[in-house]
Amino acid sequence: MCGIFAYLNYLTPKSRQEVLDLLVTGLKRLEYRGYDSTGVAIDSPDNKNIVMVKRTGKVKVLEEAIQEHFSGGDYSEPVLTHIGIAHTRWATHGVPCERNSHPHRSDDGNGFVVVHNGIITNYNDVKTFLAKRGYEFESDTDTEVFAKLVHHLWKTHPTYSFRELVEQAILQVEGAFAIAVKSKHFPGECVASRRSSPLLVGIKTKTRLATDHIPILYGKDDKKQNLDQDADPGKPQVLPRSESTSEFMPLEEKEVEYFFASDASAVIEHTNRVIYLEDDDVAAVRDGTLSIHRLKKSLDDPHAREITTLKMEIQQIMKGNYDYFMQKEIFEQPDSVVNTMRGRVRFDGNAIVLGGIKDYIPEIKRCRRLMLIGCGTSYHSAVATRQLLEELTELPVMVELASDFLDRNTPIFRDDVCFFISQSGETADTLMALRYCKQRGALIVGITNTVGSSICRESHCGVHINAGPEIGVASTKAYTSQFISLVMFALVMSEDRLSLQQRRLEILQALSKLADQIREVLKLDTKVQELAKDLYQHKSLLIMGRGYNFATCLEGALKVKELTYMHSEGIMAGELKHGPLALVDDSMPVLMIVLRDPVYVKCMNALQQVTSRKGCPIIICEEGDEETQAFSSRHLEIPRTVDCLQGILTVIPMQLLSYHIAVLRGCDVDCPRNLAKSVTVE
Ligand code: F6R
Repeated sequence: MCGIFAYLNYLTPKSRQEVLDLLVTGLKRLEYRGYDSTGVAIDSPDNKNIVMVKRTGKVKVLEEAIQEHFSGGDYSEPVLTHIGIAHTRWATHGVPCERNSHPHRSDDGNGFVVVHNGIITNYNDVKTFLAKRGYEFESDTDTEVFAKLVHHLWKTHPTYSFRELVEQAILQVEGAFAIAVKSKHFPGECVASRRSSPLLVGIKTKTRLATDHIPILYGKDDKKQNLDQDADPGKPQVLPRSESTSEFMPLEEKEVEYFFASDASAVIEHTNRVIYLEDDDVAAVRDGTLSIHRLKKSLDDPHAREITTLKMEIQQIMKGNYDYFMQKEIFEQPDSVVNTMRGRVRFDGNAIVLGGIKDYIPEIKRCRRLMLIGCGTSYHSAVATRQLLEELTELPVMVELASDFLDRNTPIFRDDVCFFISQSGETADTLMALRYCKQRGALIVGITNTVGSSICRESHCGVHINAGPEIGVASTKAYTSQFISLVMFALVMSEDRLSLQQRRLEILQALSKLADQIREVLKLDTKVQELAKDLYQHKSLLIMGRGYNFATCLEGALKVKELTYMHSEGIMAGELKHGPLALVDDSMPVLMIVLRDPVYVKCMNALQQVTSRKGCPIIICEEGDEETQAFSSRHLEIPRTVDCLQGILTVIPMQLLSYHIAVLRGCDVDCPRNLAKSVTVE
């Protein structure tokens, strides 16, 4: 939800044009986070002002506006030190329009400009306070109050440094945010901070960095000031200054470039050295020196923030020969599932080691129940694996939508083990549910795809699904990798159960064949495209199945809805006669999953119920299953695998189908309307 990108070059000459190119490329990488409006701010050619360009729509529109706005000699002159900030928005407060686009400014003179991701929940109070002091607001956003608050503090506390001003403003606001601030009063400086929204700092130097950590500095007295006590205009009020402890030195480099970004995909083409900021860290760059400060000192704070080396490759975030990221990500699944198992599953010795949770397995085995919590597709991966988890752990397994779980104030106990499943690791509902369970003493296990994400960091232990960056807003390869991660967990939990060894062996053997079988399923692409041509002009698609394949029905329907804007519903086949059968006639598009598993006979009953109401379903069935195929001329055959892994093979035709319908309907596949990849608001 919203992408932040800022770039600072210190003693590394760059023209404003180059800076703008960097900002636009950074925004393109973050576009999946929101794409209803965009903006940038850089210094004016005379260095006396800040110029901003904002546009409604995607980064492409901003790019064209920048070309129009910033042309000519002044913008191609190299500048030794400069800071530019940029933003791509997913509207929460105020409709998407230029007025509401970021950066937001403090005053007509653009004294302070701010980009923000998240929600300032007490913005109304701050706004009222500032309005009483003569500030006029030009947008409907919560962000604008932050820019004006910093300005107010600057006016009333003139001796304060830029960082101290931002720190004071942060102490006054509530909610979730990642921010980056630039000021014409503090040229060449940038201050950034986060609370519950992700933010990292990328560092690029000519030579190898001399250190692998940045010390954390504390003010002697970083108290929240009483804003109501305005300074006497004749005698500026001086807040107690935060004097940094001197035992650590911040990062000082002669020639250096800094990047502030909502995620690593925006910086990887420039540097692989990053620092993930923690909640309430304030990162400030002044005279090329990066320092990290904490607002409040706590006993368990580490002394320093580590500089991490990213393992990501640039090719992973490029589209290559594919038309869309989603298409690329669907076709990556033979590799991504292997990456999820790599180094964990030993097919020769039938052993599985999940390094991130192995020390906690005895505790997990003693628990009262397992709870799997997530949203959207991540929730579906829990639905898909619940039955196997129940079977192999012999524990009660509850599957919960994070938002509903919180609404219900669900009882949680110290001996519960709660899994939080999230591709981004930043989904607000999931993160809130995590904190709720952690406060109640449950063991927290994170299943995420984003190293360094909030869910990753706040979990006691976890499994990184290793699916690689997922850029298309619709989740595909993360789903199959979450699925496999949970299957691996079930296998670990049952390794010492003699009665389950045969079953485990069967699953392990099936896992070893999975990548090749996914390749086989992907060969159905052309056939699926033909089916999409039959379907794309319809208004609705019903997807029916049961048992291990019910999750595919839910996930398939979600993909169809979000990508094609058609109505679609995943229906538990056992429920047909309790209502949904009334929808079926000769014109209603229906897709049914009927595989040779323990519920085959029941699925065949459902198939008969549909065809006897003149329904003409498309059937997903097993290779060579002529008996089932006899019910319809339109079928997709998938290879046979063990029942509990079928869902991986059946979901792929659904991903392909939604993709092709979306293309045929002219929808924006990678950026469906009204959605964002990372939903960091509740
Ligand atoms: C659907 C989709 C969403 C996400 C959901 C949770 O294709 O992508 O339903 O699955 O917003 O996101 P994460 O997994 O990042 O917590």
